[in-house]
Amino acid sequence: MRIGILGSGLMGGKLGTIFARAGHEVVFSYSRSNAKLEKLARDAGGKARAGTPSDAAKDADALLLAVHWSRVDDVLKETGDLSGKVIVTCSLPMEEDDSGLAIGHTSSGAEELARRVPEARVVSAFNTLPSEVFFSVFEGDAGERRPSVAYCSDDARAKKVAAQLITDAGFDPVDAGPLRIARYTEPFALLMGQLAYEGDRGPAVAYGFEWFNERTLP
Ligand SMILES: NC(=O)c1ccc[n+]([C@@H]2O[C@H](COP(=O)([O-])OP(=O)(O)OC[C@H]3O[C@@H](n4cnc5c(N)ncnc54)[C@H](OP(=O)(O)O)[C@@H]3O)[C@@H](O)[C@H]2O)c1
Repeated sequence: MRIGILGSGLMGGKLGTIFARAGHEVVFSYSRSNAKLEKLARDAGGKARAGTPSDAAKDADALLLAVHWSRVDDVLKETGDLSGKVIVTCSLPMEEDDSGLAIGHTSSGAEELARRVPEARVVSAFNTLPSEVFFSVFEGDAGERRPSVAYCSDDARAKKVAAQLITDAGFDPVDAGPLRIARYTEPFALLMGQLAYEGDRGPAVAYGFEWFNERTLP
């Protein structure tokens, strides 16, 4: 697939690198440093390159939205026409000062995004995982016991794309239902962040949670 990375920080940088190493054509975009985008593309190898958000969106089969919530409108403006585009969002709707969720309970960041770009196909995925775990899962030999990652969307094509990307990153994709399920996965992501960064077991605990699957359930 051609994948445009909108926001090439911790999440976009790592996931974009993994997608490139899995054989996808990746465009890294939306950093304050073009040199950083160029370096990410060089280090990722394969068919990765640096570009603007509108380069990233051109002919993309999927776009990964990985910016702080306060940057969403800006990056969407720079991206241009999103008609029919699949947007995989891992962005959490955090307050500007990261003090908590700006949207929750009766809606979610993913649903708000879908309202802002009704012409696009929005799917929520990857946000329950700290970026630090991605490389070890991708490079690890998980065998049959792949950690599960939930995704949700109201759009069948977006779900298919997300499931493929989750698989390519080394995880087991779990269809959690419609986009409104992001009302639960987004706060869950904060719990994962709390455990990973402020608990005493580090990011690995985050995919400890993701191991619940048919093998571990009675
Ligand atoms: N990190 C995680 O483990 C994690 C886990 C779950 C969900 N999330 C969500 O994923 C999203 C991205 O998180 P992240 O940790 O990848 O963030 P990040 O490292 O700060 O990356 C954000 C990207 O946006 C870019 N950006 C462009 N213009 C910017 C501006 N004017 N101000 C600030 N940033 C600008 C940054 O540029 P630079 O390259 O110049 O910094 C960077 O490439 C967030 O919504 C977060 O809630 C993150």
